[in-house]
Amino acid sequence: MKTPTPIAEIAGTGHFLPDNVVTNDDLAKRLDTSDEWIRTRTGIRERRIAPDGMHAAHLGSEAAKQAMEEAGVEPGEVDILIVSTATPDRWLPSTACDIQAILGCDNAVAFDVMAACTGHIYGLSMAEGYIAAGRAEVALVVAAEKMSAIVDWTDRTTAVLFGDGGGAAVLRPSNGSGRGIVSSHLQSDGNLAELLYRPGGGAIEPISQSMLDNGRHLLHMHGREIFKNAVRSMAEACDIAMKKAGFTSSDIDLLVPHQANIRIIEATAKYAGLPMEKVFVNVEKYGNMSSATVPIAFHEARMEGLIGEGSNVLTVAFGAGLTWGAMTIRM
Ligand code: ACO
Repeated sequence: MKTPTPIAEIAGTGHFLPDNVVTNDDLAKRLDTSDEWIRTRTGIRERRIAPDGMHAAHLGSEAAKQAMEEAGVEPGEVDILIVSTATPDRWLPSTACDIQAILGCDNAVAFDVMAACTGHIYGLSMAEGYIAAGRAEVALVVAAEKMSAIVDWTDRTTAVLFGDGGGAAVLRPSNGSGRGIVSSHLQSDGNLAELLYRPGGGAIEPISQSMLDNGRHLLHMHGREIFKNAVRSMAEACDIAMKKAGFTSSDIDLLVPHQANIRIIEATAKYAGLPMEKVFVNVEKYGNMSSATVPIAFHEARMEGLIGEGSNVLTVAFGAGLTWGAMTIRM
């Protein structure tokens, strides 16, 4: 297949992580777990946890400022602001509107996208669509996740997995540069919603004392089923995105996968035909930050010089919904 001409390129990226580091040993003091269990099953050593008063809008807007600075974009130039979050600061209005107000992106249309861990890839794809349609010149795509606010801190099967953070990217029209999003593949399967969800707190099970007492407002997960689906779906998505781009694995310089579990990452890389030297991994430092994971990893890989001018990057994610997707990007 002929490689498509990119329509939207990444003009800047950024990330923000709270200073507060919580190690596996710290968790083992309050949960029946151990550093050894967490490391061998997940690859995670520590995670960042935002303090009280630091919420999704803060995490996202700090990352956005960095991305806008690199792109040379003033707040008033942003035409569309898309925020992915599984941990909105409030149910109404959107976290995107809060971030718009913080940044002063007064001319932007701002809204949230809810696609859990795949949210940033969904957001990039939506921004690309706005640019392709001629409706935006500058798109700001932000991921903002305070997972610590929705985790059940008494449940060792989920509490050890997650962390907090924000990531961002600015997209602009490629204008024939050859850089940008080359291909993408997004998918969802609502039939499997209850593998990973927050049962209470919405319209189905409104907030009540018994709902709170039973922790129904917090994250519930079937870890093994999620694991199996994640490996299969991410492998398929990588394959389809590479095919759509006319790429084989030898054309990919770096895989930037969602960082939920090192074993999922290794299996995905294997199916995609990529050696681990071509895979960016930071799960040991931050755990799973839902949709913020991919843009934070992407930004760190750039800062470490692993993604440079002309690099072909494959990025892939999987999350609640279920949702999954992959994207090839030429920098
Ligand atoms: N510390 C110690 N023991 C634990 C812990 C813990 N933190 N958590 C679970 N265990 C125990 C279980 O109770 C169980 O004990 P039992 O055999 O006595 O019943 C044993 O360890 C094995 O539990 P499993 O759930 O079978 O362990 P598994 O090898 O599947 O690993 C894990 C669990 C790490 C959650 C894995 O299934 C996983 O990573 N799944 C993907 C989940 C995920 O990443 N979700 C994030 C959102 S989706 C995404 O981002 C991809």
